[in-house]
Amino acid sequence: MEKLLALAIENLKNSYSPYSHFPVSAVLELKNGRIYKGVNIENAAYGLANCAERSALFAAYSDGVRKTDIRRILVYTDHDYFVSPCGSCRQVIRELMENDAEVILANNKGETQTYKNVDLLPFGFSEADL
Ligand code: THU
Repeated sequence: MEKLLALAIENLKNSYSPYSHFPVSAVLELKNGRIYKGVNIENAAYGLANCAERSALFAAYSDGVRKTDIRRILVYTDHDYFVSPCGSCRQVIRELMENDAEVILANNKGETQTYKNVDLLPFGFSEADL
């Protein structure tokens, strides 16, 4: 957990967030220990912003990773409170990580809160509904 947090803090500088000035960093850990990182990436067309969680997941999936490979994701912002994934990220996390995979929120006091993926999106829409 400390290693993930340290990586997330170090990675925060890569955030491209000139509009919100709200950098977010996410670190994805696989069951084999491999790490993928993501940051929020914004755009002058504001609606095109991609959150850190989705950046990390998309980087991993682009490399061939699939949900059964993933252990957990840690989300970090430089605030003394916890920031939790937006609705779009919860939908994506729900599908791209296993139901019982961990979503860890971390603040700049070194505190963490851990949730189970499925608990972040109760009664969510999924591929099973198609
Ligand atoms: N953001 C994330 O990257 N992850 C979250 O969990 C919440 C919000 C980003 C999106 C946008 O670039 C900025 O934070 C402000 O909303």
